[in-house]
Amino acid sequence: MILKIHPYDKKLTFGFCNGKGASKSMEISICIGSSCHLKGSHDLVKIFERLIALNSLQDQIELKGSFCMGECTSNGVCVSMNGQRFKVTPMEAETFFRDEVLKRLN
Ligand code: FES
Repeated sequence: MILKIHPYDKKLTFGFCNGKGASKSMEISICIGSSCHLKGSHDLVKIFERLIALNSLQDQIELKGSFCMGECTSNGVCVSMNGQRFKVTPMEAETFFRDEVLKRLN
């Protein structure tokens, strides 16, 4: 896994970073702040990386990590998809990917 810190927006980038991020059609940011970490953000990253690879979507999806998005009180890990916020648990990850991510790409 590649982990890179962007100095200006202080976001972390991991996986599938090929320098073509700006041209990808979807950006998914997973909060890796302490509260979301305790809710399974590391597992969510691994699941999303696997699902992106299984669906050969590396050229379409930029998967990033983000510090706290300010929504720690809700259940699930905070996920931003093209700026829209969601709460996703690792148990819900595959359903979320099928129903929200793949739907938007098709
Ligand atoms: S730690 Fe994830 S929203 Fe605050």
